[in-house]
Amino acid sequence: MTSEESLFPRKTNSMNRRFFSKFLALGTGSVGLMPSDSDSTEKTATGGEDNPDSTVNNSLKFNPLFGQVPACVADFQILAKTALPRATYEYITSGSTDEVTLHENLAAFRRIRILPPLLAGVDRVDTSTSILGQSISMPILIAPVAGQSLFHADGVLGSARAAAAAHTILGVSSSAGNSVEEIAAASSGPKWFQLYVPKDRGVTRQLVERVHASGYKAIIVTVDLGERKDADLRNRFALPPSVLRKHLIDIGFPITKDMSYSDLLAFNEKAWDLALDWKFFDWLRSVTNLPILLKGVLRPADAQQAIALGLDGIIVSNHGGRRLDGVPSSIEQLPKIADVMDGKAELLLDSGVRRGTDVLKAIALGAKAVLIGRPSAWALAAEGELGVSKVLSFFREELILAMQTSGCPSLAAIKKPLLMM
Ligand code: FNR
Ligand code: LAC
Repeated sequence: MTSEESLFPRKTNSMNRRFFSKFLALGTGSVGLMPSDSDSTEKTATGGEDNPDSTVNNSLKFNPLFGQVPACVADFQILAKTALPRATYEYITSGSTDEVTLHENLAAFRRIRILPPLLAGVDRVDTSTSILGQSISMPILIAPVAGQSLFHADGVLGSARAAAAAHTILGVSSSAGNSVEEIAAASSGPKWFQLYVPKDRGVTRQLVERVHASGYKAIIVTVDLGERKDADLRNRFALPPSVLRKHLIDIGFPITKDMSYSDLLAFNEKAWDLALDWKFFDWLRSVTNLPILLKGVLRPADAQQAIALGLDGIIVSNHGGRRLDGVPSSIEQLPKIADVMDGKAELLLDSGVRRGTDVLKAIALGAKAVLIGRPSAWALAAEGELGVSKVLSFFREELILAMQTSGCPSLAAIKKPLLMM
């Protein structure tokens, strides 16, 4: 068992705990539950640790790293588990249904071996690259992640500052926890906005215009569906009313003061377009000149279609195993998709990247860069902005070591023959 696997909750005793008043999955692709029973406002015996309103660190919980400093992503996962209410930790960490894809994301990276040549004489390596014309210090970006205000008081503003300090790109979720303007003001670093599409195209259009006006460099359209996370259902994981209200207002929906929590939940249920088709991109092109990336691609044919439509980038992704379970790992699909790309659009990958060697493997198989989701979410939960800075440093240091050891002075030198598959 890997350290990550050993921490995934297989069974919880949360049926014995108190539930939140309502269930709400974040963003789109979610299912709604009926309001729960009258228990909803009671605290648990552990002081309400399952209450998502409480983002307070619980220092009394056992911390297996006590007295030590985090050295890798897995350490931040342990610290996040210690710091967060159970429901929030499981929201970040779990995958859909049986978590087959979640586990496969990690296993598939581990199956790939690196076979470095000896005596390659490489001392200094250059990890810098350029994506969609944007120079960045390393091929490691932060993936769009929802709900960051629940993880740490620094929230996505801390992630934005850490990404800027590391000279890399921040993916900003539609549900990140702050408005596009607030996030733009937090740092001058490059940002890509990830769009979940409101059914009301007037609202969508205004949002895209605000993204443009705020200086974002690209739009990521996430299109994979099929979320069903058992842990979130058990925990009745929900956004607290104030967070949900802010989220809907930040998007630009017509939310009024007199709307109750149940009004907001009902509004959210109906607000998002879950039945997009390829025609959407014609519409999106008609309202923005920003580069567009498609996130959630696993089939070469879909990548070809995106290229045919003139999209600017493909993110090979299964949403970190958080959408339809049973789909293949993205690293397994990457070479097949790289084969049809022909350099016509930027090719990126996420899902299961946990080490610098994973970055090396993805680049060898054709990706220009990778995005990290849970690693930066756990690091934010554990240590706020500083944690995100540290986790980006770990990835950079591990990548540099892997490149030096493999005789690769630059990212361009990282090629498929380095790998045994
Ligand atoms: C995500 N992801 C995500 N993706 C997206 O397009 N919009 C979103 O709002 C979110 N929200 C979100 C929340 C949390 C807590 C996680 C962990 C992930 C998916 C994310 O962008 C990325 O695809 C995966 O996280 C990559 O897999 P790893 O790195 O977590 O294995
Ligand atoms: C998630 C959504 C919000 O993965 O994309 O939680």
